[in-house]
Amino acid sequence: MTKSQTKNILLGITGGIAAYKSAELTRLLIKQGYSVRVCMTQAATQFITPLTLQALSTHPVHLDLLDTQAESAMGHIELARWADHILIAPCTADFIAKMAHGFADDLLSTVCLASNAPVNIAPAMNQQMWKHPAVQNNVQTLIANGVNIFEPAAGEQACGDIGVGRMLEPSEIIDRLAITETHSRQLAGVKLLITAGATREAIDPVRYLTNRSSGKMGYAIAQAAQQMGAEVTLISGIGCLPKPSGLTRISVESANDMYQAVLKQAENCDIFIATAAVADYSPVQQNTHKIKKTANHLQLELQKNPDILATVSQQFPNIFTVGFAAETDNLIQYARQKLTNKKLDMVAANWVGKDKGFDQTENALEVLWKDGQCSLPTMPKQQLAKELLYLVEKNYRNKDK
Ligand code: CTP
Repeated sequence: MTKSQTKNILLGITGGIAAYKSAELTRLLIKQGYSVRVCMTQAATQFITPLTLQALSTHPVHLDLLDTQAESAMGHIELARWADHILIAPCTADFIAKMAHGFADDLLSTVCLASNAPVNIAPAMNQQMWKHPAVQNNVQTLIANGVNIFEPAAGEQACGDIGVGRMLEPSEIIDRLAITETHSRQLAGVKLLITAGATREAIDPVRYLTNRSSGKMGYAIAQAAQQMGAEVTLISGIGCLPKPSGLTRISVESANDMYQAVLKQAENCDIFIATAAVADYSPVQQNTHKIKKTANHLQLELQKNPDILATVSQQFPNIFTVGFAAETDNLIQYARQKLTNKKLDMVAANWVGKDKGFDQTENALEVLWKDGQCSLPTMPKQQLAKELLYLVEKNYRNKDK
């Protein structure tokens, strides 16, 4: 394990028996070169004394949200800004629930909300509690919110049960942290352009043609790329997803608007990921007045829209291009055809229809490139976005070799 450069880590300790391992964890973090500040919940202080953690971290332990003395030294907002990483170990079922629902009723939960540092948690609890759907649902929410979970290990528990729920050993937590850190800046300095969501093709001022895409996958990729250090521009079709912080979003309506916006931004990008479900056709005639229902039959003449992705790959051959393929059958075959026909570097293919793909929170992808392929199994779209970006990054770096 290599020593990290000095980085600030906030170690959150919540009230579980595994809190006794936090002393060793603090020692190992310092050995790794981290500057460590400890924040404990009231329950945690029942398991291990703040004095022990103060001695090991060489800094006063942060305990209370409404402590005027502590706030004047380093208040919760300063603490939140100071942290490059937040690690909560052990993290109880109660604290997982708090984080999942955005509670801010103690210092640690408030700091988690007020910080944009990556958050890692090492859950520890009774095996039955860990299995409970309420806990698992909360864990899924945290994953969706970008929190890294250092999943508990199986084994004998303090309560005598045997099963999954034991906190990882401090040395294993350090290893997991190192892996997370490696990925966390993988796209630093890379300019990434992403299209997301559905386009709307106007028929008249009140009606339009569109599709079922929610934009969730594209937004998840944009957010994950930004967290991995990329400079992200998101060109988004119509939708109501909130703008992820820290990136540029350009909102467009029609396929043609998206085409114009992408070509304007493409000159300045290294990777282009086209997740948008761009309408293939748009009405030839856009009525400026609302069409009245006087006719018994109405024919809509459609014309083909420009292919944004194919245009980028043709006009900017140096850009690493990633396309998406949503198919109801022959997934791999059609995806490979897209890779070749549009001269792409990578295609991420997924099944659609029958509750798959569009507007779902989870998805699975078959990722293909010229001489390789990788299956990413069903997982929350946020997690899937990260896994896809690891593959994109690896192939992008190999492109000119
Ligand atoms: N795409 C694009 N511009 C378009 C159409 C599609 O950039 N006008 C991009 C999508 O964002 C996606 C990929 O191309 O990355 C999808 O390819 P496409 O050929 O549109 O897929 P299908 O419409 O499913 O193709 P087909 O009808 O041939 O199955």
